Amino acid sequence: MKVGIDLIHFATSDYFLGLDTFASQKNIDVEKFTIGIGQEKMSIAPPDEDVVTLAAKAAKAILDQVDPQKITAVLFATESGVDQSKSAGAFLHGLLNLPKRCRVIELKHACYAGAAALQMATALVKSNVKEKILVIAADIAKYDVDSSGEATQGCGAVAMLVKDSPRILALESGSGYYTDDVMDFWRPNHRETALVDGKYSTMVYLNSLKHAWTHFNEETGRTFQDIDYFCYHIPFTKMAEKAHKTLIKKTKSEVSDAQFEEQLSYGQSYNRIVGNSYSASLFIGFCSLLDFAKQNLVNKRVSFFSYGSGCVAEFFSGVIQPEYQSVLMTASHQQQILQRQALSYAEYLNFYHGSDLSQENCILPEHNRGSFRLAAIEEHKRIYIAR
Ligand code: CAA
Repeated sequence: MKVGIDLIHFATSDYFLGLDTFASQKNIDVEKFTIGIGQEKMSIAPPDEDVVTLAAKAAKAILDQVDPQKITAVLFATESGVDQSKSAGAFLHGLLNLPKRCRVIELKHACYAGAAALQMATALVKSNVKEKILVIAADIAKYDVDSSGEATQGCGAVAMLVKDSPRILALESGSGYYTDDVMDFWRPNHRETALVDGKYSTMVYLNSLKHAWTHFNEETGRTFQDIDYFCYHIPFTKMAEKAHKTLIKKTKSEVSDAQFEEQLSYGQSYNRIVGNSYSASLFIGFCSLLDFAKQNLVNKRVSFFSYGSGCVAEFFSGVIQPEYQSVLMTASHQQQILQRQALSYAEYLNFYHGSDLSQENCILPEHNRGSFRLAAIEEHKRIYIAR
């Protein structure tokens, strides 16, 4: 039985900060960002946008095409959770009127949890073909102002319908994984922003890739040459280039510049202008490959490297299915990106400092133009509205 991604759609916020604006504010050469880390823009979430509203925007386009009453589980991956107890998935379940006969859970391990949710959903469908699972990966990447990470912020959510006979990607069994208890990036419970040892985190990422690859290769027998397209976790696009070079060296592969470009570049277009979206970023990269590849991808093998700081990593693969082009939501992705509004640095700071959500009661100013927004906090309860 084939199991995998039947539909995929991503959402981001209505606003962005250009790294040109950022560079002139900080008096830094813009090429440090456009060339050095390979980023142009960062999606910025206003205070009335959070992972629940982003996820609802991403999932709505899928639920418009399938019977929502058939969804049997929601697996919500995020490291920007909105409540220490109640899962973000339960808020989403309510906003989208999903059936009561449904299991909902939130998964966390930094940027890795989306891949974990996808693997778990696949296993559930393999054990019961009636399962139709909504996998969500949604995050808002937020670092301290004036920290090294500030230029690598962003936000986004990906929704994937995982079922049997998938029309986009059949996941292949066997994967390589790797865990190490390290402190390269973390966010203690009392903090809204992440702490990071930037250079160290890039080293741990690449080291984890080598270990996960070795395990993948041993488990599946698949080699570098068996893979047509490579999707990596993308905190910034230059990181994926470093990863691909590392894998080429590790596998002693011969790859021309044109092949390198073909294997990697389609999967980077959205991430370059959305920024980091932590758990969603690997799958926004996959959407980018699907939407921008010039060649027909049918029967092509795509690999996925998921890296979550702290750290857990996994390398796995899937094969693109014959009908994939007929179910892509490219127009929706591109329209969202096009309609984003540019922020000045002062406007970005205004969103950044936002409203104090720790108050017992507050009403949030309306900036989020999407179908779902966080409207208020009432007696410490989050009040979402759909419109
Ligand atoms: N023109 C062209 N290139 C330039 C340049 C210029 N004017 N100025 C600098 N550069 C280049 C540098 O040579 C460097 O390139 P290399 O990495 O190839 O050497 C690159 O631009 C970045 O410059 P710096 O190293 O000086 O930049 P920095 O000290 O400000 O920090 C960073 C870079 C550590 C990645 C920082 O952005 C950061 O901390 N980011 C957050 C952490 C992160 O994303 N880590 C990734 C791995 S962890 C992960 O993946 C999980 C996750 O999502 C967080």
